[in-house]
Amino acid sequence: MKLAVLTSGGDSAGMNAVVRAVVKAGILRGWETWIVREGYEGLVRGNTDPPTTSTLDDPVADPSARQRVRGGKATNFIANLRFGDGDLLRDGTGDHCSGQTLKGRYIVRAGWDDVRGWAAEGGTLIGTARSKTFRTPEGRLAAAHNLIKEGIDALVVCGGDGSLTGADIFRSEWPSHISTLQADGKISDEQVEKHGHLRIVGLVGSIDNDMSMTDLTIGAPTALHRICEAIDNINSTAASHSRAFVLEVMGRHCGWLALLAGVSAGADFIFIPERPPQSDPWEDEMCEAIYRHREVGKRKTLVIVAEGAHDNNLKPIRAEYVKEVLTDRLGLDTRVTTLGHTQRGGRPCAFDRILPTLQGMEAVKALLEATPDTPSYMIGVRENKITRVPLMEAVAMTRAVADAIAARDFGKAMSLRDPEFQQ
Ligand code: F6P
Repeated sequence: MKLAVLTSGGDSAGMNAVVRAVVKAGILRGWETWIVREGYEGLVRGNTDPPTTSTLDDPVADPSARQRVRGGKATNFIANLRFGDGDLLRDGTGDHCSGQTLKGRYIVRAGWDDVRGWAAEGGTLIGTARSKTFRTPEGRLAAAHNLIKEGIDALVVCGGDGSLTGADIFRSEWPSHISTLQADGKISDEQVEKHGHLRIVGLVGSIDNDMSMTDLTIGAPTALHRICEAIDNINSTAASHSRAFVLEVMGRHCGWLALLAGVSAGADFIFIPERPPQSDPWEDEMCEAIYRHREVGKRKTLVIVAEGAHDNNLKPIRAEYVKEVLTDRLGLDTRVTTLGHTQRGGRPCAFDRILPTLQGMEAVKALLEATPDTPSYMIGVRENKITRVPLMEAVAMTRAVADAIAARDFGKAMSLRDPEFQQ
């Protein structure tokens, strides 16, 4: 049996730990393990070049090849892969994968040694993409064909809600892809028999923590920690000058990072998409709160704005505008800091190594147990326990939050995010 793993969408700390766990758990359970490079894009492109045994591209036979790769001179996607002290694509049996070059090969075998040390690495070493082609039926058909050509029986997808929606669509279309490929004479009857059912499982890798039916997404704790560190740095300079800072944080349509960072840092005011300020105009509410805090002796002010924040009428709230309000109405010397991708990069914190390891192992187990009648699962975590929930339901519930926000039903959005939320 062959198992493949891919990472998709925005990278997040902990994705490498997922790949490592899936590869290792897969090997221990007797699977042949593969990686798909560059997310769904790699699945669509597949392997156009045959594996080569040319020593020119074989870092084992020719160590200078590794240097070339490290020097970033290697073509295309090779430059995206970083290698530890281990060998490139050495499989679990100790056989190097025919010394294959990665040029024109997106679906490649990976072994025990290939993922050595990956739990500690940031980003995703196998590459990721937001593939436009995979969003088309033709792209998904090509992806199905490539999987079948390589004989892959099961797929682990690690990505955010968009990527998992893609996984869900891919599985639901699978029977029609099989029929088309068979009718076009692209796959044999034997392949039809073997690949009649796609085993697919999703793991949620996203710094946004915006997926329903799980408490935490892989990478969110690390991003939160990065924000806290940044706020520690801001605090000392803010207090020195008695300034106000408006900090914009990531999270797309989700306010988790902003809210939790605000609680960790003792922010004066926080803007999140799910619960816009209740009063109209919100400027009064914010200024009153901050004025009170200053009156009781605060020397500095911190306002956190989630990048997706808006007012009750869905008008975006921008950090620059908040700065203007603080300057004009409260006379505060105010600066804006946008943390950007510093929140997303870097090494995973301990929890973003533990969670993907446990979830990666569970994913392999779920794939082993999958039958045509079981739903595709998303591996989540609820109250500290690793869970399996139907991928389709989690995706639908996540979409329902976005719909509730768009309909300005903020109470519903909050209770969908947190069933225990009280208005
Ligand atoms: O979904 C993860 C995320 O980092 C969001 O928080 C942010 O809005 C977006 O991706 C940024 O995307 P990009 O890396 O394409 O700029």
